[in-house]
Amino acid sequence: MRKFNQVDNTDNGEKIEIRRRLLQALPAPSVLECFAGEGKIYQQCYRDLPYTGLDRKQINDARNIIAVDNRRYLRSADLEQFNLFDLDAYGSPWHQFLIIIERRTFTVGEPVAFALTEGLDFKMRMSGLPSGMLKYVGLKRGMNIPMLHNHADFIRSLFITKLLRKTGLTTQQAWIASNQRKTMRYIGLIVCK
Ligand SMILES: C[S@@+](CC[C@H](N)C(=O)[O-])C[C@H]1O[C@@H](n2cnc3c(N)ncnc32)[C@H](O)[C@@H]1O
Repeated sequence: MRKFNQVDNTDNGEKIEIRRRLLQALPAPSVLECFAGEGKIYQQCYRDLPYTGLDRKQINDARNIIAVDNRRYLRSADLEQFNLFDLDAYGSPWHQFLIIIERRTFTVGEPVAFALTEGLDFKMRMSGLPSGMLKYVGLKRGMNIPMLHNHADFIRSLFITKLLRKTGLTTQQAWIASNQRKTMRYIGLIVCK
């Protein structure tokens, strides 16, 4: 994964830069923003594109937003209509990422993009590793490994690599950046069969 320097400390510049790079890699982007929120990213990146947003809160603005728990939507919707999945979560986007990778059909040669925001280190300190990730990193439920959160970067890479390999996908391009306090990671992936 390529690291790059922060481009803007005040307005989520790294998040926006990663999404611009993802969009450049897609011939015809179609966006599913699973954590739609206030629309900050939408305003800067997705305004002129085919777009669906999901949020468990009711949001009434000009966007095409469905009020739903994104996990419920991802488990039943036609995911092939989207090729950019935006997972701007507060904590962990990996549950949603797993559902998409396991459910979406990938056509050979088709690039599919993921924009992820995560605070795995913090999440692991509070509640351990998300259960869906355990088997990919060789751990079992109930295992108590002291200071495991110090290895969040390694665990994340292992999880992504093993999950994609299992599903026959490869990473074409990847970027990672952090916020100033190093509590959050912003990740961009282009995957392909
Ligand atoms: C970090 S904010 C997203 C910010 C947004 N991407 C933006 O650019 O303004 C997280 C949002 O995700 C929503 N959310 C959290 N968990 C969710 C879930 N399981 N399903 C749908 N929405 C969820 C919250 O209501 C909140 O609005």
